[in-house]
Amino acid sequence: MPHTPHAPGMFLFGGDYNPEQWSREIWAEDVALMRQAHVNTATIGVFSWAMLEPSEGEYDSQWLDDVISNLDAAGVGFFLATPTASPPPWFTTAHPDALPIRADGTPVLHGSRDTYAVSAPAYRDAARGIARFLAERYGTHPGLRGWHIHNEYGTIDYGPHAARAFRDWLRRKYVTLESLNTAWSTAFWSQRYGTWDDILPPVQTQYLHNPAQLVDFKRFSSDELLAAFTEQKDEIRAAGSTAPITTNFMLPTWNHLDQWAWSDAQDIVSIDHYLDTAGPDGEAHVAYGSDLTRSWAGGPWLLMEQNATGMRVGDRLATKEPDRMVRNSLGYIARGSQSSLFFQWRASAGGAELWHGALVPHAGADTRAFRAVVELGEMLEKISEVAEPPTSGVLVESEIGIVWDAEGWWSLETPHLPNDAIGYSDEVRAAHRAFWRGGYAVDFVRPGTDASRYRLLVVPALYAITAETGRWLEEYVRSGGCLVVTFATGLADEHQRVVAGGYPGMLRSLLGVRAEQIFPRPDGDIVYLSNGLAGGSWTEMLHADGADILARYDSGNLSGLPAITRRSLGTGSAIYLSTKLEQASLDTFLAGLAAEAGILPVLEGASAFGVEAVRRRGATADYLFLLHHGDHPVRVDGAGADLLSGARDRILLAPGQVAVIREESRAWSIVDA
Ligand code: GAL
Repeated sequence: MPHTPHAPGMFLFGGDYNPEQWSREIWAEDVALMRQAHVNTATIGVFSWAMLEPSEGEYDSQWLDDVISNLDAAGVGFFLATPTASPPPWFTTAHPDALPIRADGTPVLHGSRDTYAVSAPAYRDAARGIARFLAERYGTHPGLRGWHIHNEYGTIDYGPHAARAFRDWLRRKYVTLESLNTAWSTAFWSQRYGTWDDILPPVQTQYLHNPAQLVDFKRFSSDELLAAFTEQKDEIRAAGSTAPITTNFMLPTWNHLDQWAWSDAQDIVSIDHYLDTAGPDGEAHVAYGSDLTRSWAGGPWLLMEQNATGMRVGDRLATKEPDRMVRNSLGYIARGSQSSLFFQWRASAGGAELWHGALVPHAGADTRAFRAVVELGEMLEKISEVAEPPTSGVLVESEIGIVWDAEGWWSLETPHLPNDAIGYSDEVRAAHRAFWRGGYAVDFVRPGTDASRYRLLVVPALYAITAETGRWLEEYVRSGGCLVVTFATGLADEHQRVVAGGYPGMLRSLLGVRAEQIFPRPDGDIVYLSNGLAGGSWTEMLHADGADILARYDSGNLSGLPAITRRSLGTGSAIYLSTKLEQASLDTFLAGLAAEAGILPVLEGASAFGVEAVRRRGATADYLFLLHHGDHPVRVDGAGADLLSGARDRILLAPGQVAVIREESRAWSIVDA
């Protein structure tokens, strides 16, 4: 059976390869260095539209034929990208209406990348055309590992094409203008629509936008981009290519896509992941991106891009030390990635991103950075058996789930909420970070899916929910789960309408509480709770209405009133957290609930040493990944062999080091070495 990126029998190693920026002498050096570094995968063509189609309908692919035959000769497989994220200048000159328009009405002209209006027919035709051309020419090539459609979908257009397509989408959704007017609460501010043609995307306007319009436009844009993706996929299949298809999601800064729906449409899910901090929280960020993507994928996934040597923090580059590059790479793999791919192979000498890190830096192969790349290539070969996923069951076992929903992010971004500083991904990440710090395995959960394997299910800041999601959460509790709902959840329905009668209206009866008023707090205004925890930013005048009180406010104007409650229902319980706990308090609180539910960290005590432990299941064994982010040597005792060092049963780990242990038993202990 041919191997696929799901089960390639090895980890994919390499990255974006842009030989069109270089001479043919450099191409020869490239493949020699790829061999040296054990690179087995190159992603080609991501930004090659202008080279492949120098003028409308005229294709030139001789150069790409040559690139592919060079890779072939070196035994390097390839992802072939469709170059549709970056239309060439001739395209926008010929089709100026296909340029995106910003919300403020200004056109975005060519000169950078991503200058396309996704709803423009000329763009869609051209994108289908180039996808078809590539699929016909290369779709059955034996070196083709898969299709990388487009690059980081997420360019949002507010122009006339978008307006037309948005109206069509709204007509399909609401059928009558009356139901749209009701759903959008257009009675407020005289926004009532008498004809579909009056409806606009949420373009620049005088004051606040209508929140229901904003969220519908987000839904529409995600669907529209997905339709463009699906059209390319159909062209590729129609041309007879059966290779797996993906598109690379951008994490975590963009929220333009409903990732669950998009994941359903792909053969394998992939992400680009760039650390957003040079500090130690970067390690938690790797885990967060990986757990999210594994959950979207429902199994193995691909890391399509990371940065080998650094990260951009604010206005400057921060270095990623080689040991961190290796640890991060193994961190993604521990949590289900089938690859360690980078942007990009060779650092550009010119162009907009010439200072972005690369596997081959400007200084060339005689560098500490390239030696680390070679070392990583060797390590990935040593652990290749891990790449075979289990034939049944889950890849990373977890008893803790965190609900994730793109709609939650969109709804919490609508303006003029009680506290606009509360960010959806900040809250989700805070919950994930708390479990990561405690050493627990975590999955993310799609609303409405089977959550019965999670003993603990956390719902952070899911501001707007449907009645269906409310029923799903109730069912989870009734059948024995421990549900934790945080503040800023369930306040509104899917039309961004508050459910009156006390907060959080959508979940009031499930939680057994009723809040009569929300008190956002200024930054730094800390409230203390009777159980010793501290919160702030958001507090509520809360009444228990069927729930037990776990903690009361112990300072400030709400002193003595409930802050954290628990309602028992069926065989489970529903906990409500009415304030934003400080991170240290959230860590304590969630770890306490995990312990109460009988959930154990992957390796008891490891976190205290700065060691991250992750168990990834394989086809014939389980593998314990140990990533040492701390600063003292440790010793880990148990039964199993480290595939990297060859050590058995007693494994010494220096700061910065990694072990990948084929387990003979799950009983391990960790001590200071
Ligand atoms: C990614 C993108 C790449 C490159 C990289 C570095 O998001 O896909 O093309 O721009 O960032 O900034």
